[in-house]
Amino acid sequence: MPDRCRPWIRSGVTVPEVRAAPSAKRHTVVIRGGTVVDATGERRADVVVSGDQVAAVGESASAPPGATVLDAGGCWVAPGLVDLHTHLREPGDEDAENVESGARAAACGGYTAVLAMPNTDPPIDSAAVAREVLELGVGAACRVAVAGAITVGRAGQRLAPMGELAALGVRIFTDDGTGVQDVGVMRRALEYGRGLGVTLAQHCEDAALAAGGHMHEGAWSSWLGVPGRPAEAEEVMVARDIALARMTGARIHFLHLSTARSMALVAAAKAEGLAVSAEVAPHHLSLTDAEMAGYDPLFKVNPPLRTDADVVAARSACADGTVDAVATDHAPHPPERKDTTLDDAAPGMLGLETAVAVVLGALAAPVADGGGRTGGAGPRTPPPMAARDVLALLSWRPARIAGLTPDQGGDQGGPIAPGAAANLCVIDPTHRWQVDPVRLASRSRNTPWAGRTLTGRVRHTLYRGEPVVVDAEAQR
Ligand code: DOR
Repeated sequence: MPDRCRPWIRSGVTVPEVRAAPSAKRHTVVIRGGTVVDATGERRADVVVSGDQVAAVGESASAPPGATVLDAGGCWVAPGLVDLHTHLREPGDEDAENVESGARAAACGGYTAVLAMPNTDPPIDSAAVAREVLELGVGAACRVAVAGAITVGRAGQRLAPMGELAALGVRIFTDDGTGVQDVGVMRRALEYGRGLGVTLAQHCEDAALAAGGHMHEGAWSSWLGVPGRPAEAEEVMVARDIALARMTGARIHFLHLSTARSMALVAAAKAEGLAVSAEVAPHHLSLTDAEMAGYDPLFKVNPPLRTDADVVAARSACADGTVDAVATDHAPHPPERKDTTLDDAAPGMLGLETAVAVVLGALAAPVADGGGRTGGAGPRTPPPMAARDVLALLSWRPARIAGLTPDQGGDQGGPIAPGAAANLCVIDPTHRWQVDPVRLASRSRNTPWAGRTLTGRVRHTLYRGEPVVVDAEAQR
């Protein structure tokens, strides 16, 4: 493509050097007594980490003098989790979260990489802001990748300088928080995206259909007298963008899908061979619109919590491969934006530190005995998924969508083998714990799981060989 067709490409863009965390010394860590679970299978093995790499995987590894030994008895030792959907709020809303606190919360949740959403203030719609966030991520407790905005100011009108952002390593573009409403703008974005080899990620909500709604439109919203956002607000945009994916041949990723018909649309698009992928959020696998009965803004989120049937469909779509990833949509908000009326409150809920337990509860029970289930969705739930299939949704499949796997030049998603980057998490699938918002690493407290007992906890996280979380406590 000649450069006159790509006016957004300007010279002088430099790529910030993202170096290993300064603390990644050649120290030895032995992770002892766990079951290694990665894309290649499951085996009982100790994992020896030297510096920032896996040095050995095998039975009964001995620990050299001075080594750190981490107990993994009864635990899964997995590649670090990768979150495709994290709101880090920096720049602009640092009272809710910043890159450092968000990365620490991610590490506590077992994540070794997050994709920072661009709905910051200012938004990540220029190389300058993307570079700022990337630089803030150097030295954080996990890898911070950046999603660029599709349009300038996320206003849905003019395309952002996608070429400049791609030159910085940005692989995903989204106006998340809102969808791109103008179909012509979305078509152009997909065409440019295809040329650049990047993925366009859509927040599917038709603004006109969703306008004024604070929860799912259905029986509960009628009963409560709260204006709703219909399932169709999501589905018309999923259907529209599948048509655009067919038309342009571009890659599109559907963010936080929440309805049964969205799952069916994606399944049909995949069967047709279109380059589509999809994520669901832990809360859409576990909570329904019945939670809104108390008018509690903690449960207000976009897209909204849906019905039992939608929860069951989302779980089935995880099990049958329609859904590629579970992504948190971690959306921190300060108290003044949540401790208010339902119509005033900001949408969104924390996700990073509870995701493993909630997802295991929704998809892998009875291993984790239903910690995250809603009562209503239980009886019709699909059969439990194997640990490896659940971890695939949380680690190596999202790593691939983000372009972060080793064969894509990255260091995420495993497999766990000698010479691989030591980005690892250790999960105890049977540990029961009560969620205390005050003890979360996030700067915000807006978790819908406050006070509830969940099953499944991240015990240790290693980022580039450094134990950044030990026995569920952040080390920095
Ligand atoms: O509920 C939501 N909150 N959905 C989004 O898409 C954006 C997010 C936020 O940024 O708070």
